[in-house]
Amino acid sequence: MNELKNVFVMDHPLIKHKITLLRDKNTSSKEFRELIIEVTRLMCYEALRDLPLKEIEVETPITTSVFKVLAEPHLSIVPILRAGIGMVEGVTSLLPTARIGHIGLYRDPKTLKPIEYYCKLPSDINGGDVIVLDPMLATGGSAIDAISGIKKHNPASIKFMCIIASPEGIEAVTKAHPDVKIYCASKDKCLNKDGYIVPGLGDAGDRIFGTK
Ligand code: PRP
Ligand code: URA
Repeated sequence: MNELKNVFVMDHPLIKHKITLLRDKNTSSKEFRELIIEVTRLMCYEALRDLPLKEIEVETPITTSVFKVLAEPHLSIVPILRAGIGMVEGVTSLLPTARIGHIGLYRDPKTLKPIEYYCKLPSDINGGDVIVLDPMLATGGSAIDAISGIKKHNPASIKFMCIIASPEGIEAVTKAHPDVKIYCASKDKCLNKDGYIVPGLGDAGDRIFGTK
């Protein structure tokens, strides 16, 4: 993993392989959805490295001893609609008790500014840890606004998990929210004039939901 302050870029061969399949324009919506879940699950290995543990006594077939289990983390995940929904199962398959909030944002195609249309967060987000999910970090506007909205509810920590990030998006989010750790499966080259990530994978929402 390549680490730069609060930015973690995955370098595992399994992740690289699956991202190449995601980029291919001939990958079907069904395969695309499955790959997004698989990559998110693999990324959890790094993003959840600091989950708290507690000790419990367990009787093995040989002896009784004290072992570690998850300490029922006070964790919420917040997908940014729509495309972030595609990543939810990747986290909940590992942490089925995580609360799930939703923030609905879409980018105005001309200004590229995010426009909020929905927000419903878990009632006990205050003092808990939050992971924001969105496959694409392009200009960073959507992530910045989502994180600002969540911060109003005083969580203990926020992480941002995305599949593809642009250098511009990483810079914008780290500048606006230097306390937020960013986990991305790939850091791509740049944005094009329409605000799409290059080489990227196209419109993640459309590819997940088959809407184009
Ligand atoms: C995409 C993506 C992010 C946003 C990233 O969503 O899922 O939310 O663009 O761009 P930004 O970093 O420049 O803000 P989009 O607005 O296309 O909405 P959708 O998920 O409903 O398709
Ligand atoms: N949103 C996407 O879905 N893809 C991009 O490349 C940029 C923003």
